[in-house]
Amino acid sequence: MPIPLVIDTDTAADDCFALLLGLLDPRADLKAITIVAGNVGFAQQVDNAFLTLELAGRLGDVPVHAGAHVPLVSEWVGATEVHGLDGVGGQRRTNAEPASEEHAVDALVRLARRHAGELTIVAIGPLTNIALAVRRDPAFAANVRELVVMGGSLNGRGNVTPAAEYNIFVDPEAANIVVSAGFPSLRFVTWDPLTIASTVFGPERIAQIEALDTPLSRFFVRANRATFAFDHAAGLGGSTHPDSLSVAIALAPELTRRERPYRVAVELRGEHTRGATVFDWRADAVPNATAIEEVDSAAFFTLMRDLLAQRPHVRRGPEVQPGSGGFARV
Ligand code: RIB
Ligand code: CA
Repeated sequence: MPIPLVIDTDTAADDCFALLLGLLDPRADLKAITIVAGNVGFAQQVDNAFLTLELAGRLGDVPVHAGAHVPLVSEWVGATEVHGLDGVGGQRRTNAEPASEEHAVDALVRLARRHAGELTIVAIGPLTNIALAVRRDPAFAANVRELVVMGGSLNGRGNVTPAAEYNIFVDPEAANIVVSAGFPSLRFVTWDPLTIASTVFGPERIAQIEALDTPLSRFFVRANRATFAFDHAAGLGGSTHPDSLSVAIALAPELTRRERPYRVAVELRGEHTRGATVFDWRADAVPNATAIEEVDSAAFFTLMRDLLAQRPHVRRGPEVQPGSGGFARV
């Protein structure tokens, strides 16, 4: 039975590949895509979501809801230096589908109620929308079966500062609300160690994807180019794919080899450590989350390669200029 799923995303590069998994894997019943301020300009993120829907042949099947345009307290900090100005290597949607009139936070609360105890949410951007949903509905957290968060580091290195990973760094207050909300299952896919150890696609893996020569593999290679260059220059050996892994873990439990409970706290005040995640393992720490510590990296790559080998039936028209695709002003 496909799992009811919502992906909350700051749609750029690997976020798009994660959406493809949610749109095309038979184990997923993607109910909505909710957009949060993150990687690139907000209107561009909405366009990127519709481009991904179009390439997956799912345009009109899954609504896109615009959410928070700014973090709760911090100024928005983008990641265009990592993913390029548009996050998709200059590729453009050819549809002018508008985003839903329903705000992302309202959609999250509504879907959690409608699918109480069954809904999986995979949050692959800053946690602003999720935190606002917690504040909007006291029952929201309890209604969600599982929240998988791409974010933080397990007492390891950050990627925006030495201490903080991007999704948490952008909105630490939101992350603090989320770890304190009492989600029945809150699972972290961290930057360090998990992402940098198990999600890197180096030149050989990229070559395998390129050799598929399908519309999805060509989309991947072009949208991934900026991230590959940035991550490779940072010494990671290739492009990182934590967002895709987060959706894959939600859909394919067999990928997870080791997962442990922790008490997770988010640093809000440190001059050098704001946005850091502290994972307390001590015996007297009362767990509020788990961290996935080891996955089957080879099986994850095979899953992504097989996904990109698919040839969904796609209707494309003339390209739409960035940011002009109508979406509800919220
Ligand atoms: O730190 C990695 C996260 O930030 C991913 O979600 C990726 O989209 C980047 O922006
Ligand atoms: Ca992301």
